[in-house]
Amino acid sequence: FQTIGVMGAMAEEIAPILKKFPTHTSENIGNNTYYHLQLEGLNIVLAYSKIGKVHAATTASTLILHHKVQALIFSGVAGGLAPNLAINDLLLATKLCQADIDLTSFNHPLGFIPESSVFVESDPQLNALAKSVAQNLNLPLKEGIIATCDQFVSDLKRKQTFVQHFGASVVEMEGASLGFVCRDFNIPFCVLRSVSDTADGTAPADFDAFLHQSAQISADFVYAMLWAL
Ligand code: ADE
Repeated sequence: FQTIGVMGAMAEEIAPILKKFPTHTSENIGNNTYYHLQLEGLNIVLAYSKIGKVHAATTASTLILHHKVQALIFSGVAGGLAPNLAINDLLLATKLCQADIDLTSFNHPLGFIPESSVFVESDPQLNALAKSVAQNLNLPLKEGIIATCDQFVSDLKRKQTFVQHFGASVVEMEGASLGFVCRDFNIPFCVLRSVSDTADGTAPADFDAFLHQSAQISADFVYAMLWAL
């Protein structure tokens, strides 16, 4: 790749990457700041979208259509749903869905939109790169399905719905959004998420306590991936 997009949802999620590039330029488009970074011959455009599916779609579209990124990597935190996921564990998305899309009144499965699909699959080559980077660094990297929805999940019932309907391992608020944008424009993407909470009753407090630490874990990993591109 010549130019690659890296995005997070919150300032905290991209800050550890931005810190690695003390010299950079930036520009504002559509109420977001895009940072231009150089890593040897690679151009990187880094941005955080703000929280949620709408903002993630705007940022992903701007990265693709305006900045002409040829691939997109997302770095951030997520709520753990699967029992094998603990706070700070790192997960690579195999496929992602919009868990709050509900056209079941018209007999569509939960998460399904006509002319689209329940799931969008991340890029096998970027995923293979992530797995080889993890192996080289001797870092445990889990894989699983991501449920994306415009809600911060902090109760057991909603957790269970996402596991039952989608087989999701984590829940977050942007992944499927940029995934579907990338699929529409034929841009390979992958999503890395470190667990900041387990989407239960203590999730809001855990999120506040672990946001920086888990964002750093994901960002450090994505930074290592950039060197391996
Ligand atoms: N991101 C991090 N934790 C989350 C949660 N519990 N629900 C939605 N998005 C999240």
